[in-house]
Order: sequence, then structure tokens, then C-alpha cells
Amino acid sequence: MSTETKPAYSPGLAGVVAGETSICWVDPNAGLAYRGYDIHEMAEQANFEEAAYLLLNGELPNAQELMDFGRRIAAERELPEPVLDMLRLLPKKMHPMDVLRTGVSMLAGFDPDLNDQSHDANMCKSIRLIARVGTLIADGWRISKGKDPLPDKNDLTHAGNFLYKLTGQVPETWQVRMLDTIFILYADHDFNASTFAARVTASTLSDMYAAVTSACGTLKGPLHGGANEESMKMLDEIKTPERAEGWMMEALAKKAKIMGFGHRVYKAGDSRVPIMREIARDYGNRIGKPEWVPICEKLEATMEREKGLCANVDLYAAPVFTMFGFPSELNTPIFAASRIAGWCAHVTEQHDNNRLIRPRSIYVGPALRPFPGHSSSTK
Ligand code: COA
Repeated sequence: MSTETKPAYSPGLAGVVAGETSICWVDPNAGLAYRGYDIHEMAEQANFEEAAYLLLNGELPNAQELMDFGRRIAAERELPEPVLDMLRLLPKKMHPMDVLRTGVSMLAGFDPDLNDQSHDANMCKSIRLIARVGTLIADGWRISKGKDPLPDKNDLTHAGNFLYKLTGQVPETWQVRMLDTIFILYADHDFNASTFAARVTASTLSDMYAAVTSACGTLKGPLHGGANEESMKMLDEIKTPERAEGWMMEALAKKAKIMGFGHRVYKAGDSRVPIMREIARDYGNRIGKPEWVPICEKLEATMEREKGLCANVDLYAAPVFTMFGFPSELNTPIFAASRIAGWCAHVTEQHDNNRLIRPRSIYVGPALRPFPGHSSSTK
């Protein structure tokens, strides 16, 4: 039946190069750079706005450009009233990632540049999306808890304002610094599943909101962004460092997938783990809850010994978010509040040099056979 030779096949597209990008480089040997800048240096010194500007524009902003960029984000944060009304109509138990996906989709209708895929229009939409994704998460969460959304505090950074809007408390300077670092770590990761989903959608010349809606749906899954929620459930179950090794051995014996471990690209460690681990240690020491890091370290040592697998960033992000006071359902949305910068940069890059992304499949169904026709099926 075959009319062509079989194309090469890599399950899960492992190792397949699906495009070129100048936004982000993931080095399998535990490295990560945005537009050529090492993530480790940026995480220490930059804030999220600088990283987002860099991802979108290709170069770091000067002081004036950074101030203007921050102001433009601040000016776009408020949600249109009908979107707030919609948030009030959603079931109170709806997962915040589903709320976010729904909200992004609805916001499309309020963007005057929706169907303009030019570079300049995409930059404007990126700023609106970066601003409003944070608001959707914070306002959606408060509304689901029967509370009113809070007004923005525009004297805070984007990360600081996000913390304030979620918790209702003005965060400490060190908390803002930590969240800025976390936002930088999560902002981009080349062709990860959600970014690839966004690029596939954008490659049909569909709009940025459609692409980000696809990305939100993709990030939710526990093999991707959803892992930071699942990791926290695991750590809550383990409870103490003494129980960690036994728990892991039992789970491995059952052939379970352990959340927060493994990575498609990194095989010698996730570049973001050392920074996130130190944030977790620092936070734990500050608030008298130092046990999370030893639990994770025991899990890491056991997994390394048993399967040679390394932890990924979500293992340590989970307890950090818990120490911030967030329930685990918010872990993946917080990831999205940062990754939105990467998604928008990739959609823009895709539109600027587009070719439809349309792979092939290998047909493994029945061989060609004669269609019986209606007369035979009604006999
Ligand atoms: N727990 C237990 N075993 C794992 C594992 C994990 N977290 N991750 C990978 N493995 C094992 C697989 O079972 C497989 O073993 P086998 O060869 O004996 O069958 C081997 O390692 C290769 O794994 P594979 O599933 O082919 O890797 P992948 O590249 O397809 O998947 C992930 C990568 C991230 C999806 C996978 O590691 C995973 O599911 N991790 C947990 C979810 C997670 O933390 N996601 C966040 C990623 S940042």
C-alpha cells in the first residue's frame, strides 16, 4: 500500500530540531542563556522586566527604556470589566490554570491589535499580555475565594505587584527580589512543550492570544508546568527528610513517575536547580522552616543513585511557593506569569519569519480495504 519511503521517526520528537531561535539557548550540560546572557548572572542582578524586555527586543534596555517598559506594563495591568464579570461567573472550584486559559482567550476580544501580526503590533500585544496574565491569575484567585481584586501598587516591580495582588500584603524587599529571580528562571526555555504549542498555533498565522491560549493548556500538564503542583503534593506526603528515601524507593518499585525529576534536554542537571535550591534554603532559614531542602536533597541523592536522573527546577519551586504562602494550585499559574514573556517573544519570532509547522506521522492503521457501501450494511 505504501506510496512513499518511511520518514525518520523520533517518538515525542526527542532530539528533533524543529526550528531556529535567537531567544534562548538551553545547554544540555546544565546551561541556560537568554539572548547570550547567562541566566545565573541575570538571576542575581536583573529584575523580571529587564529579562522580559531582553527576550522581546533582543538587547537589554538602558535605564530610560527599562523605566518606559515598566510603565507600559503597569498601564496595561487592569482587566476590562467584562473579563472581571466573566471571572465572577466561573465555578469557584475551577483550577486556576483553567481560569487563566479562559481569561487569556477572552482578553483577545479586547485587544485592538488582535489580528495584526506585524512585529510592532506583536510587541504591543506582548506588553498587554505580560501585564494582564499576572492580573488574571491574581484577580481570578481572589474572586474564586470570594474576595475582591485589589488595585495595583505601581511603585512595586511587576513581581512585587503580583505578590501584593495575590496576598493583599505589601511584600518584603527580599521576597520581591526572590520572586524576580524566580520569574527570570522561568521566563523562557527554548522549544519546551508550551512554547512549541504557541509556535505551532502562531505558524498558522493565528494571533498571539490564540497561541498563548494553546500554551496555557499545554503548560498545565504534569509532565510540563503542572509538575510544580504535583511536586508539592509529593513533598507534603513525605513530610520529613527521614521518610524521603523510603518513599522514593517505594514509588520507584511501583514504576511511578516522580514529579520534579528528569528532563528531556538536561541530562547533567537542570541549570536552574542550584539557584532555586538556594532560594528554598534561604526562605526556609528566614521563616524557621528549613526541612524542605533536606527532603529534596535526600530525594535527589536517592534518584541519582537509583536511576541516574537529576532534579528539575519544579522540585525546588514547589516548596518555595509554599513558603511564600501559596496553595499548590497556584504553582503552575505563577510559572505562567513569568513564561508569558517567553511565549510572546517566540510568537513574535515565529511571525517575523514564518513557515507553517506541520510534521508528518507514520500511518499504522488498517491497510487499504474496499468500502462495503450502504447497501451491504443495511442488508
Ligand atoms: N521518575 C521516574 N522515572 C523517570 C522520570 C521520573 N520523573 N523521568 C524519566 N524517568 C525514566 C523513564 O521511566 C525512562 O525509564 P526507562 O528507560 O526505564 O523506561 C527514562 O527515565 C527516560 O524517560 P523518558 O520518559 O523517556 O524521558 P522523557 O524525555 O520522555 O521525559 C519528562 C521527560 C520531563 C517528561 C520526564 O522526565 C518526567 O515525566 N518527569 C516528571 C515530570 C516533571 O518533573 N516534569 C517537569 C519537567 S521540567
